[in-house]
Amino acid sequence: MSAPLVLAIETSCDETAVALVRGRELVTSEVASQTALHQPYGGVVPEVASRSHLTRIKPLMDRTFAKGGVAPGELDAVAATRGPGLLTALLVGVAAGKGLAIGLNRPFIGVNHLEGHLLSPFFDAASGPVRSLGLVVSGGHTLLVLLEKVGDYRLVGRTVDDAAGEAFDKVAKLIGLPYPGGPEIDRLARKGDPAKYRLPRSMPGETNFQFSFSGLKTAVRYLLPQLSGDFQADLAASFQEAVVDVLVRKTLAAARAHGCEVIGVSGGVSCNSRLRARLEEACAAAGRTLQLARPDLTTDNAAMIGFAAVQRLQQGLVDDLAVDADPSLRLTSNG
Ligand code: KG4
Ligand code: ZN
Repeated sequence: MSAPLVLAIETSCDETAVALVRGRELVTSEVASQTALHQPYGGVVPEVASRSHLTRIKPLMDRTFAKGGVAPGELDAVAATRGPGLLTALLVGVAAGKGLAIGLNRPFIGVNHLEGHLLSPFFDAASGPVRSLGLVVSGGHTLLVLLEKVGDYRLVGRTVDDAAGEAFDKVAKLIGLPYPGGPEIDRLARKGDPAKYRLPRSMPGETNFQFSFSGLKTAVRYLLPQLSGDFQADLAASFQEAVVDVLVRKTLAAARAHGCEVIGVSGGVSCNSRLRARLEEACAAAGRTLQLARPDLTTDNAAMIGFAAVQRLQQGLVDDLAVDADPSLRLTSNG
């Protein structure tokens, strides 16, 4: 099959997203963000998320077909994120995807959200996904994964407590910034001094690929009462530098340890301007090829789910309709 056309749905957390992907071409990608709905609570409320997905999914699918100039009958397959994520949120996308697949008599592909992130840096690469070391940094996950080939992933390291994005969000809340805090800290940090406050870098060691960010968050909490005046930008920059230092150092060390020439970086936190700049510097110095996810594909979207589904479809990896949502779906074969 050449350049299959897939409609993909993503509802694992607080974005309702639908996209059309034809081979490596992104036809159209629609995201209906729920950020404003959850903002008053300072985080995502699962019940609010699933109800909002329910009301938004059908109009968003209609809009995606209209914008893409595609009729449903032209699809080769329908895909939806089936995990990990919030169960009641995932169920909405999986049910909508299966319903469309049944109606059109086309295959259904259940995609792992983390596989969507992991493969997203290769969306624009002529080669498609290649053997590489993947850093997936988002609000829910911080993972180092050895990508051998599509469908063959090995866990190299992960966080033992908070995800990097979660640390950004929690520290932003402590400083008094709105949710989600990652982009706010990124903006504020540009005006701050990253060396102003000395914050801890956890889990040192050349062969330790685990992450821990809760100690850093606690260090910020203890430091805060001692600060006064206009400290926010310096604190944001110092915190961000501590996270970025650890992410860059461990990713480069893991690539070296596993003999990976290529490093792929994805997930919401990979949008961070300082992380992108430091990774570029470090990869250039170490002679490694850096594949960064396109900024518009870093936070949750359905285009990455469509791209992963195309890769799976091209390998004959389709699901039967018994495949279900799984809130703790694993990506890797070894944990
Ligand atoms: O990938 P994503 O949309 O959702 C998950 O799968 O978790 O990631 C969202 C996370 C949030 O924690 C958000 O604060 C963080 O990505 N984020 C950032 C930036 N943009 C989004 N963190 C740091 N700097 C950014 N520019
Ligand atoms: Zn995500």
